[in-house]
Amino acid sequence: MNKHNVRNDWALFSYITAYIKPYLGILLIATIALAGNLILLLFRPYLTKQVIDLGFATNDIHVIEYYAVLYGLTIIGSVCFIFVENYFLKSFGQKIIYNIRHIVFQKILHKPHDEFYKLPIGNWVTRITNDVESLRTLYTDVLLNLASSGLMIIGILAFMYAINVPLAIIMTILVPIMGGIIWVYQKFSRKAFRQVRRSVAASNSSIKELLNYIVIVKSYGGEKAIEGRYETVNKGFLEAGLFEVTTFSIFRPLVDGLFFVALIVIFTTTNLIDSVADAGTVFAFIQYMDRFFQPLKEIADKYNSLQSSLAGAERLVPLLEEKERNMVDEVPKELIPVESIEFDHVWFSYENNDTYALQDFTLHIKSGDFTGIVGPSGSGKSTLLSLLMGIYKPTKGAIYINGIDIAKYDSSVLRHLMGYVFQQAYLFKGSIKDNLTLFDTSISHDEMVKAAKQVNLDTMIEQLPEGYNTPVGYLGSLLSDGQKQLLAFGRTLIRNTPILLLDEATANVDSHTEKQIQASIENIRGSKTIVSIAHRLSTVQEANEIVYIEYGKIIEKGSFKELIELKRAFYNLWIRQKSGS
Ligand SMILES: Nc1ncnc2c1ncn2[C@@H]1O[C@H](COP(=O)(O)OP(=O)(O)OP(=O)(O)O)[C@@H](O)[C@H]1O
Ligand SMILES: [Mg+2]
Repeated sequence: MNKHNVRNDWALFSYITAYIKPYLGILLIATIALAGNLILLLFRPYLTKQVIDLGFATNDIHVIEYYAVLYGLTIIGSVCFIFVENYFLKSFGQKIIYNIRHIVFQKILHKPHDEFYKLPIGNWVTRITNDVESLRTLYTDVLLNLASSGLMIIGILAFMYAINVPLAIIMTILVPIMGGIIWVYQKFSRKAFRQVRRSVAASNSSIKELLNYIVIVKSYGGEKAIEGRYETVNKGFLEAGLFEVTTFSIFRPLVDGLFFVALIVIFTTTNLIDSVADAGTVFAFIQYMDRFFQPLKEIADKYNSLQSSLAGAERLVPLLEEKERNMVDEVPKELIPVESIEFDHVWFSYENNDTYALQDFTLHIKSGDFTGIVGPSGSGKSTLLSLLMGIYKPTKGAIYINGIDIAKYDSSVLRHLMGYVFQQAYLFKGSIKDNLTLFDTSISHDEMVKAAKQVNLDTMIEQLPEGYNTPVGYLGSLLSDGQKQLLAFGRTLIRNTPILLLDEATANVDSHTEKQIQASIENIRGSKTIVSIAHRLSTVQEANEIVYIEYGKIIEKGSFKELIELKRAFYNLWIRQKSGS
C-alpha cells in the first residue's frame, strides 16, 4: 500500500475538514456561543474586583446592587450560551459521524476484492467504529476545547493587563514555559497513542478471527496454542498502555507544580509592591489565576486526545483518499454476447509468493463451450478463475474476452459477465431465500424457484418447515456441505450471467451431489460458457475440452476420450479415482 502524503497535523486536519464542510455552519454557531460564554465568564472576576474596590470601599449600596445585578445577568447569559453551544455541538458531532461512517463504509465496500485478503477483518471493523469515532472527538471535543482554552488564556491575559500590568507580565512569562513542557510531552504522547491504537486493532482482529474459527480450534484441541498467541497480542497491548500511562504521569505533576510556583510568586510580589495591588486586584488575580491554569491544563489533557484522534484520522486518510471506483451496472456492448475467452501467455504470482501460480498459460475457449480444469491440489486452478474474474491481474500476459483485454475493465464489469461458484460455499445468516437472492428484492419468486429446480434443490427446500423462508442457521448449519454447494450454484444461476465458473469442492461433494451437479450442468449447457474445476473427474467427463494442469502449466488438453487414449497424467488420475471410489 502506498504511503499517504499527509505530512503534518495541519495538512491532515484541513484534509479531513473537507469532509465536514456541509456542517461547518452548525459548528460556527456553537463556537460563537462558546466565545460568548467565555467573555461572560472572564467578566465576572472583574465585576468582583469592582464590587470590592468601589462598592465595599465606599459602602455604597447602589454600587453593590448595580454590580450584583450585572453579575446575575452574566450568569443568565452564560446559561443561554452553554445551552446553544451544547445543542449545536452535539448535533454537529452526530451529523459528521453519520456522514463519515457512511463514506468509510462505502469505500470499504467498493474496495477491490484482493484487498480483503491482505488485511484482517477486525482492522476494517476498527476503521468504521473507533477511527470514525475519534474523528468526531477531534472536532466536538478536542479542537473546540483547544480553541476555547486558547481564547480563554488570551482573554485572561487581556483582563489581567487591564487590571495590573506588572503582575500580568509575570503571568505572561509562565505561558511559554508551559508551552515548552507541552511540546516535549507531545513528542512522547504521540508515540504512545500510536502504539495503543495499533494494539487495539491487533487485539480486535485477533479476537474476531479466533471466534470465527473457534469450532475448528476446539476440535483440534488448539486452545493452548491460541491462548499463547493471544497472550502475545495482549502483552503488546499492556506495554503500549503502560507507556502511555508513564508519559502522562510524568507530565501531569509538572503542570500542577507550576501552578504552585505561580501562586507563591503572586503572593510574594503583591506583598512587595503593596501600593499597586489593593484587595480587589489580589482577589481578581487569584480568580483569574485559577482560570488561567485551568485552560493550560486542559490544553495538555486535550493534547492527549488530539494525538489519539489524529492517529485515528491518519489511519482513515488512505481510505478516504482512494479514488471513487466506477461501479459499473451495465456491461459494455462489445462484451455481449461473449464469443471467446482467451488466456494469452498468462503468468501470475501472488504478491507474497515468489513462485508462479500460473506459468505461460495459453487457452482459447469458445462461446457455449464447457471446459473442465483438472489437476493436483495447488496446481493453480482456483487462481485461474480468480484471474478471469479480475480479482487479480496477470503478472505477465493478458486475458481477452471477444479480443478485448479485460484489464481495461473494472472487476465490477466482469461480475456481470461471470457467475462464480466458490470452492467453499459461504452462507449468510438468513433464510434460504436470502441466500439464493443475496437480499436482492428485484428477483421474483419464480426466478428463484427456477434456479432451485436447475440445481435439483427444489424438492428438498419445499419439504422444509418454512420452505424458502427457512433460516439456514449459523454458517449454514442446517444444510449439508453438498447442499450448500448446490445452493451456491443456484445463487449463481439466478444472476443469469453468460459465463459460469465452477470451483468444485473435493470433500464436500458426495457421489449423489456430484450427479446433481452434473445434471445441473447438462441443464444449462450450451446456453452458457462454462469453466468448471473438477476434483471428481466424472463431473467433467462430458466437457468439450479438459485441461490438465500441474504447477500452473498446461500438461495435457483434449476431450475425455482423447486424454484417456493418451494414457498419461489424466489417465493415471482417472484410474486412481476409479479404483478409489
Ligand atoms: N492468496 C494467495 N496468496 C499466496 N499464494 C497463494 C494464494 N492462493 C493460492 N496461492 C498459491 O498458488 C498456488 C495455486 O493455488 P490454487 O488455489 O490456485 O490451487 P488449486 O489448484 O485451486 O488447488 P485446490 O485443488 O487445492 O483447490 C498454490 O501453490 C498456492 O500456494
Ligand atoms: Mg482451488
